[in-house]
Amino acid sequence: MRHFVLIVLCGIGKRLSKANLIRISVAADVIKIGAWMVDHGFFEWIVVEKRQMVWGKIVDKVENEKVLYLEFGVYKGYATNWWSKRLLNPRTMIHGFDSFEGLPESGADWQSGQFDVGGNLPKINDTRVKFFKGWFDKTLPKYDMPEHDVLVINMDADIYSSTKYVLDYLKPFIKEGTYIYFDELYCSEHEARAFHEFIKSTGLKFKPVATTAGFLACAFICTGSAK
Ligand SMILES: C[S@@+](CC[C@H](N)C(=O)[O-])C[C@H]1O[C@@H](n2cnc3c(N)ncnc32)[C@H](O)[C@@H]1O
Repeated sequence: MRHFVLIVLCGIGKRLSKANLIRISVAADVIKIGAWMVDHGFFEWIVVEKRQMVWGKIVDKVENEKVLYLEFGVYKGYATNWWSKRLLNPRTMIHGFDSFEGLPESGADWQSGQFDVGGNLPKINDTRVKFFKGWFDKTLPKYDMPEHDVLVINMDADIYSSTKYVLDYLKPFIKEGTYIYFDELYCSEHEARAFHEFIKSTGLKFKPVATTAGFLACAFICTGSAK
């Protein structure tokens, strides 16, 4: 019977286009991440249309605070620029980390070197913005975490190894009131896996803030340690 099912599945696979195979694999990931959300008690989501609206839910709470906004995966600076316009406190710091040479390895549908901008940093007209160029495991250990009132982390490095490194490194700084945003959380073997391992190893609790449909763009706030 199992053998028969395998033959049928292979037959279906042979006939599907690459685009349809990707759609099926994304759907399976969304189902997995949905189950994971339920396991973690992440039920009460505000679902919005665009990732900027997810960011907006964080901005509504912190725009006038002295924020340390850390972005991992800057690329051409779209998100950095967006946050620099919305975070209003002059003492806020907007720090972006990227190799500016693209992804260090392939994973899911991403290819090694994807998002390579030839080492060029984005130009953003805001003195609060600083970029830290290089691989995260080289730049983060040299980075002095500045004092801040609220920490906002934008995780957009896509792949597991990069996300895992950053979350592990930031463990001592993630506490009650810290916001973490993930740009591709639905990808179960990448950002979701790294976040899952982070929650397990720290015991920290999180509450949903907002998401787009299918958990593509997804934000949480840390509510502290389990009592
Ligand atoms: C999807 S892009 C970021 C997009 C950007 N946040 C935006 O909104 O336009 C992912 C970025 O992560 C960077 N990246 C991934 N892993 C990295 C690592 N280990 N060290 C440095 N940069 C990394 C890549 O260079 C790439 O620019």
